[in-house]
Amino acid sequence: MSKDYIATYQAHTNIALIKYWGKRNQDLMLPVTSSLSLTLEAFYSQTQVHFAKDYASDQFILNDQPQSKNEVQKISNFLDRFRQLKATDLKAKVTSYNHVPTAAGLASSASAFAALACACNGALELNLPQKELSIMARFGSGSASRSLFGGFVEWEKGQGDDSQSSFAHPFDEADWDIAMIALIVNQAAKPFSSRQAMQHTIESSPFYALWAEEVASDLKHIKRAIKARDIHQIGQIAEHNAMKMHATMLAANPSFTYFQAESLQAMEAVRQLRKAGLTAYFTMDAGPNVKIICPYSEVPAIQAHLSKAFDPQNIIVSRPGPQPFPIPTFKN
Ligand code: ADP
Ligand code: DP6
Repeated sequence: MSKDYIATYQAHTNIALIKYWGKRNQDLMLPVTSSLSLTLEAFYSQTQVHFAKDYASDQFILNDQPQSKNEVQKISNFLDRFRQLKATDLKAKVTSYNHVPTAAGLASSASAFAALACACNGALELNLPQKELSIMARFGSGSASRSLFGGFVEWEKGQGDDSQSSFAHPFDEADWDIAMIALIVNQAAKPFSSRQAMQHTIESSPFYALWAEEVASDLKHIKRAIKARDIHQIGQIAEHNAMKMHATMLAANPSFTYFQAESLQAMEAVRQLRKAGLTAYFTMDAGPNVKIICPYSEVPAIQAHLSKAFDPQNIIVSRPGPQPFPIPTFKN
C-alpha cells in the first residue's frame, strides 16, 4: 500500500432511554443487556483519520490538543482492528473535534468511536456495512455501537461470547413530535469513567441482578410506547429506567453516584414542569447533566419555565439526529 488513505466523518451522540450498564465479556465488549437510545442532532464528533507512511507512530489530536500516551494507545488499539482488515501496518493521525463536552455524561465516547469507525472504513476503502461498523464501534465504546444510526436505535446484546451477534439497528426514525433538552449543570470531565463504574457496580452491587431483569421488561414496554408515539409512556419508562441504573451505583460497595446537588435540582425542576401540565421526563447518564425527553412542540414552554432557574446557555435543545456522514477533509 503506497498511497495515503484519508477520510473525515461526523457522527452524532446518542442518549439511552433504556441504559446499557455492565458487560458480560469485557474483552469482547459484550453487554449484559440490550439497550435503546435516541440519536441527537445537537451533539456530535467530527473525526478525520489519515493513514500514511510519513507517520512513525499513531497520533491523536482532540480539540486541537495532542492527547496523552494512554489516550493514543486506546486509539491505536482501535485502529489495529481496521489495519488488520486491510492487512496494512500504516500508522495514522487522528484529528477530532467534539461538539459535545468530553467525558461529562453527554456521550462523547459514543459519537467519537462511531465517527472514527466510519472514518477508518472510508479511508481504508473497506466498504463495511453499517451493521459491521456498529460492531467495530462497540470495541471503542459500547454506546458507540448505537451512534451508527439515526433516530431511535436498539443495541442487541447478542448471544454468549459471539461478538458478531451484538450490534445496533434502527428502531424508529423519530420523525415525529419528540425532542431532548440537555440541561448542563457541569461540563467538567467526570471523576470516574463509565467503564470503571459499570464494572465496579457489577462486581459489588447486590441490586445488579435485578437491574438486568428490569431492563428486559422496560425494553419491551418502551418499544411498544415508541411505536404508539406515546411520549408519556416513553418518558415514564425512561425516567424510571435511569433511576434504577443509578440505584445500582448507590448500592455498590463502596457506593458512588454521578448525582450532584444541581442534578437533583434539575430533576426536581422537571417534576415541577409536569405539575405545570407540561410533558417532560428526565434521564441521566454517567455524569451530572440531566436530559429531558419532551414533545418538540412543548419546547418553548419548557424553556420558558427552565430559564427562570437555569442559565439559558445551559439549556440545549436537540431534535433527533442522523446517522454518520462524510464531511470535507480538515487541513492537516
Ligand atoms: P462520555 O460521557 O463523554 O461518553 P466517557 O468516559 O464514556 O464519557 O468517554 C469519554 C472518553 O472517550 C474520553 O476520555 C476519551 O478517551 C474518549 N473520547 C471522547 N471524545 C473522543 C474523540 N472525539 N475521539 C476519540 N476518543 C474520544
Ligand atoms: C450510562 O458506552 O461509555 O451512558 O462501553 O465502557 O465505553 P464503555 O461505556 P459507555 O457507557 C455508557 C453508559 C451510559 C448508558 C448508555 O449509554 O447506555
